[in-house]
Amino acid sequence: MKTLMLFLLPTLFISLANAEVKSGAELFTEKCVSCHITTRPDDRSKLIAPPAMGITRHVKMEYPKKEDALKFIVDYIQNPSKEKAVCIPRSIKRFGLMPSQKGLATDEEFIKIANYLYDNFGNRGQRRNSNQGMN
Ligand code: HEC
Repeated sequence: MKTLMLFLLPTLFISLANAEVKSGAELFTEKCVSCHITTRPDDRSKLIAPPAMGITRHVKMEYPKKEDALKFIVDYIQNPSKEKAVCIPRSIKRFGLMPSQKGLATDEEFIKIANYLYDNFGNRGQRRNSNQGMN
């Protein structure tokens, strides 16, 4: 029994640790990319939601402070509403309101995802033409 425990415990710790190490990028790929692509769309008519750079740019315009932007994103993905939305109204008209992602990730994971968006997309001047009119 003792030997079995000695053998099992490290395995348990390793799998627990592995479950924790997903990065914001990995989480975004898993949970958001099916709707929000991270590359420049070749054919905008195929989009089913605004691309990552578009949504993030609008969030940053409305919430310039990182802390506020993260709070907004974490809240919006769980409780989306027309009143809260910062993207242009045309976006909601075209794509419909985003379905709530509540329960699909932990709070901690949503914070990681929000950080990933904030740190990698929607910066002023970043790939300007790819941003234009995309959301
Ligand atoms: C089933 C498709 C779908 C999935 C999955 C999805 N979204 Fe969205 N999302 C949308 C659509 C459509 C919009 C545009 C309409 C709106 O703003 O509600 C949107 C808008 C947004 C916005 C802009 C909100 C605003 O103010 O208008 C953010 C931020 C966002 N999504 C983040 C995420 C993140 C992060 C994930 C992954 C956890 C995610 N979305 C998963 C469809 C999706």
